[in-house]
Amino acid sequence: MKRVLITGGGGYIGSHAVKYFLEHQCEVVVIDNFSRGFHQPLDLLKNVGSLKVYEADLTSFDALLKVFEENEIDTVLHFAAFLSVDESVKHPELYFKNNVGGTLNLLEAMRVTGVNKLVFSSSCSVFGESQYLPIDEQHPLQPINPYGESKLICEKMIRWYVQAHHFRAISLRYFNVCGASSDGLIGDSKRPSPHLVQNLVRGAMGITPFHLTCPTVDTPDGTPIRDYIDIEDLTAAHYLAFEYLQHHDGFEAFNLGNGKGYSVKEMLTQVEQIFQVKIQAEKDNQPRQGEYAAVYADPSKAKRMLGWEVHRSLAESIQSLQKWYDKHPQGYDY
Ligand SMILES: NC(=O)c1ccc[n+]([C@@H]2O[C@H](COP(=O)([O-])OP(=O)(O)OC[C@H]3O[C@@H](n4cnc5c(N)ncnc54)[C@H](O)[C@@H]3O)[C@@H](O)[C@H]2O)c1
Repeated sequence: MKRVLITGGGGYIGSHAVKYFLEHQCEVVVIDNFSRGFHQPLDLLKNVGSLKVYEADLTSFDALLKVFEENEIDTVLHFAAFLSVDESVKHPELYFKNNVGGTLNLLEAMRVTGVNKLVFSSSCSVFGESQYLPIDEQHPLQPINPYGESKLICEKMIRWYVQAHHFRAISLRYFNVCGASSDGLIGDSKRPSPHLVQNLVRGAMGITPFHLTCPTVDTPDGTPIRDYIDIEDLTAAHYLAFEYLQHHDGFEAFNLGNGKGYSVKEMLTQVEQIFQVKIQAEKDNQPRQGEYAAVYADPSKAKRMLGWEVHRSLAESIQSLQKWYDKHPQGYDY
């Protein structure tokens, strides 16, 4: 049985990865400082399989080293990061310290203890404004906000570790993630959430008013066009990446999205149709900063090389969120 280390396992995507890897016969060790994540999903998942949790900060090298020394880790899945584009524009220092500093410590702890397989959570924000669509892996990398820049710096550091220290690494560049686990057990608890679909569903269910926070951009209806990827499809891609790394050297990046772009207004209409309600969209006076007009993925490389397929439709993903918020309207309790 392989043992994986999941950083940021108390967060939205990390906790779904913990669930998936436990369900696929892996032992899981989690590191999270719980600055933006939660203990509750991990407590729920302790029944699923062998799970060990460390409350530790990636910016502390000694704390990280201890985890590697106490556990024989096969592969690291690195989710821990800050991810608000808007916050990163206002406080770039936070993003370079946490995302870049934390990743460098992680790479060093891996190098020192001889762990060399890494799956990195990257983001479509490394591309910046699209120069053509759909965005494939060859698209120029020109981030337009500190969050995207921090992810690109991490990718570059990882590439150098692959070259110099024989690491094997995969960077998964997610587009916009939505959905919750299909059994309704875990979901997204961010408060406030930067994720459109989560906020739309809560608006449709009358849990919290929906605010239109996007700036006006150069698209047909003036709202940003994004590609939405389901959380369970995303975690499945991580498992395929983990399997790929068992047999392949070097570095690869993969774009993970549906391959279709929807504007914010189109998403609003779609959620209204599923819930059969009219969502009151309150427009924010201060739109989010650092946003680009349109991005959607060409996911064919992931399909070709990892054998990855999208299984859940956008409607199914929205329904999984409904199930989650039905049980947890305000997210986790602790
Ligand atoms: N959610 C999306 O749509 C999306 C899209 C593209 C990329 N990503 C990437 O996916 C990853 C996970 O995103 P998420 O939505 O689950 O975010 P999240 O905020 O729910 O989870 C991140 C977790 O990392 C932890 N963390 C942050 N800094 C830490 C540190 N220094 N030490 C220890 N733990 C720390 C937080 O406490 C939290 O539990 C991030 O790297 C993000 O950049 C997310």
